[in-house]
Amino acid sequence: MTAPLVDPFARAITYLRVSVTDRCDFRCVYCMSENMTFLPKRELLTLEELDRMCTTFIGLGVKKLRITGGEPLVRRDILTFFRAMTRHLDSGALSELTVTTNGSQLEKYAADLAACGVRRINVSLDTLDETKFATITRWGRLPQVLRGIDAAQAAGLRVKINTVALKGFNEDELFTLTDWCARRDMDLTFIEVMPMGDLGNEDRVGQYWSLKDLRARLSERVTLTDLDERSGGPARYVRVVETGQKIGFITPLTHNFCESCNRVRLTCTGELYMCLGQEDMADLRKPLRADLTSNAPLEAAIRTAISHKPKGHDFDYSRARPDGQMTRHMSHTGG
Ligand code: 5AD
Ligand code: SF4
Repeated sequence: MTAPLVDPFARAITYLRVSVTDRCDFRCVYCMSENMTFLPKRELLTLEELDRMCTTFIGLGVKKLRITGGEPLVRRDILTFFRAMTRHLDSGALSELTVTTNGSQLEKYAADLAACGVRRINVSLDTLDETKFATITRWGRLPQVLRGIDAAQAAGLRVKINTVALKGFNEDELFTLTDWCARRDMDLTFIEVMPMGDLGNEDRVGQYWSLKDLRARLSERVTLTDLDERSGGPARYVRVVETGQKIGFITPLTHNFCESCNRVRLTCTGELYMCLGQEDMADLRKPLRADLTSNAPLEAAIRTAISHKPKGHDFDYSRARPDGQMTRHMSHTGG
């Protein structure tokens, strides 16, 4: 019998987020710089290695896999990987396989993802204004994403929209976005902008729009009731009494959600980050490649890594300069 993964703070690790590429076809200003240097392809785990990694984690009790990036759907042959994960859904070892995407490739892939057993996806979308969309994503085009969302819903995928709350940018779209999601029966989650990437480029402190304020503004028009529901992550959910719509708030900076954290993050190069807000990581690629016939060294490395999972994170906006500034990009750890 293999013992499940439990960290030093008695948190069972049942949720693995996997970044399958650091590349993206967008250049969102809060995520990337205009000219990014991406990892050479040889640094990436192959699709087979990603399979071995995920399969090992699932063997250790991971029940939920979320595939992220970068933009996961721009990774070449990514469907091969999704198809491989289907076996774990079929066996019952895995209870959920989800994707976080910018939506650009959904028109192409939604039906295939559904066929692989994906039931829910998160689509990042900060504005419904075509011009503003092009500004914030630099390279993205809104109509393409909207067609992708249509395709996802047509394929029966449940869609949740993730919106980064940005002061002076989408404040005026609070109700437009909320109503649009309600009409389309999509959940909506607002995310506070986090101090990631190169801050020199964009003034993230200025962009910071507190979700406390956002929620207060929402309450001026609709009635919100708190839901108990927790995902083991930083999201809190409310119900809009008038429409039944569910709205989430991810407030990594104003709330401490670490005590119930059930997740770890694997990068596309095989680094395991025990906490989004800490630099501490373990290289799993080495033990993975050390033995091509057995996953024992990998399993041992995973257990050691989990035994170092920290209690919480260090983000802090309360000073003049954002301490806790992370040097790595979101596209590296996968959000
Ligand atoms: N702060 C908050 N959210 C971010 N994302 C990317 N960079 C940041 C940041 N600095 C979000 C994307 C997407 C998810 C994968 O991460 O908008 O919703
Ligand atoms: Fe790409 Fe998502 Fe980063 Fe935007 S936030 S650049 S869509 S990875």
